[in-house]
Amino acid sequence: HFLLFIHSYLKTKLGCTKVMSSVSDAKDQTYELTAAHLEALSKIKTLIGPSGYITETDVMQPHVVDWRGIYKGRTELVVYPKTTQEVADIVKICAQGVMPIVPQGGNTSMCGGSVPLENSPSIVLCLSRMNRIRDFDKNNYTMTVEAGCILQKLQQTASESDRYFPLSLAAEGSCMIGGNLATNAGGTNVLRYGNARELVLGVEVVLPDGQILEGLHALRKDNTGYDLKHLFLGSEGTLGIITAAVLKLFPKPRGIYAAYCAVSSVSAAIELLNRARTESGDCVETFELISRLVMDLVLKHIPNSQDPLGQRYQHYVLLELVSTTEDNHELYNRFESILSKAMEDGLILDAALAQSEDQRQAFWSLRENATESQKIEGASIKHDISVPISSIPSFYEAAWDAVLEVEPEARLIAFGHAGDGNLHFNVAEPETGKTEDFINNWDRINEAVHSTVHKYGGSISAEHGIGQLKREELVHYKTETALQVMQKIKTALDPNSIMNPGKVI
Ligand code: FAD
Ligand code: MLT
Ligand code: ZN
Repeated sequence: HFLLFIHSYLKTKLGCTKVMSSVSDAKDQTYELTAAHLEALSKIKTLIGPSGYITETDVMQPHVVDWRGIYKGRTELVVYPKTTQEVADIVKICAQGVMPIVPQGGNTSMCGGSVPLENSPSIVLCLSRMNRIRDFDKNNYTMTVEAGCILQKLQQTASESDRYFPLSLAAEGSCMIGGNLATNAGGTNVLRYGNARELVLGVEVVLPDGQILEGLHALRKDNTGYDLKHLFLGSEGTLGIITAAVLKLFPKPRGIYAAYCAVSSVSAAIELLNRARTESGDCVETFELISRLVMDLVLKHIPNSQDPLGQRYQHYVLLELVSTTEDNHELYNRFESILSKAMEDGLILDAALAQSEDQRQAFWSLRENATESQKIEGASIKHDISVPISSIPSFYEAAWDAVLEVEPEARLIAFGHAGDGNLHFNVAEPETGKTEDFINNWDRINEAVHSTVHKYGGSISAEHGIGQLKREELVHYKTETALQVMQKIKTALDPNSIMNPGKVI
């Protein structure tokens, strides 16, 4: 029911004429294919051959519905190129036929960025068959990988050669590096290593006219003019298709020390972060905040979940320190003393320090299943915000007050990367289930959270991107000048707007 209301809401809000209709219902089609479109489709089929594309509506279904089940689009064909040249040839055909292209990786986008629209013709270009590791240079601390490599596979490949690729997020078993780079993904290790953008030395991109922009440089220093790779990192498939990238690697951490802490308040959490960073010699890798309701939902919906602490608390922190040396007793001892001093000072109410890798994984399971359990519980209005780290406590309070003014019985599902100033400040419907009223307040709840974000100098999209979900809101929170520059770049590279139309701008 909740999703049904969301679909109807989006239908009105985003002008999608048939959000609730079945994508297989051909008579509902809301657009006409031109002769040029039909020619483009036929040329792509001939180019790639029958094993390289699908057109059956039911088989294409996983490619047109987003991870949250909120956006349902429509497409004419899903194509799976195997090489950069094939991508370039497909894009050239689409440019000639003005056929829109939706680049897709693992389709785990949180903002409807990776699925086609319902009311415009398109093809989905899925990168999953471009999944080779082209080069691994251990001494240069780099690997050159194709866009369709699954993130977890890349982490494993690095690890097997005693190297570390630090990008990490709960969707790592299915998201692909091309999607990670196209969204400039964040995740749980940004505090120490930065966003995806900071983990890239070079990219290979197919431009909207089909030209290949070769940029697979494995250089840490290169000031030969504009750094073009940054145009494509975080552009959500609207400027071109990333086909490969050179990724930065790091020494593999050997000592990893994890604690699951109940903290007395959000401001106590931030004070704990300060102390942990300074007193550990800046060895904090992860600092994740987890609210009471997140714990409740994970314990309720995810089998074998266990609360590591004896009592119920309102706020938790998952904190990890890392060392590149094994059995770093000094760091472990320092960790213990940071935690016990924080306990004496009332910042921490209770804490568990992982004594084994299994225990550490059990802590992570509580954090990483936040999104999944929230999805099982129903739906919620998601916010992916950032503010300066120092402003998190006052933002948290002010934003929640603002939400409660709109919906006094709303429930807060807050969690995320507090160490980066990034919270997933999600609002769930009242337990009493006034779903329709709640959804009708969608705009007002967004406004309550996002205007507070703005007041604190924050961002309405810290890591997930804009996609379809925040496209309308972007214009309220970006300056006119910034929007004009974005539009000029888009028009310069993609004058016919064939790259992921209806997303971002
Ligand atoms: P897709 O969803 O397929 O695509 C995402 C966007 O990139 C779309 O706009 C698409 O058109 C474009 N795109 C995809 N591939 C290419 C390409 N090769 N070239 C050009 N454009 C392309 N995100 C975070 O930042 N941090 C998190 O902690 C995080 N946790 C998540 C946890 C869960 C359980 C889930 C479901 C999602 C999470 N996400 C998170 C969101 C999502 O996983 C990331 O944005 C991820 O990086 C997307 O990768 P993907 O391969 O699934 O891309
Ligand atoms: C996370 O940090 O787990 C994600 O960004 C996903 C979410 O916001 O639900
Ligand atoms: Zn996140």
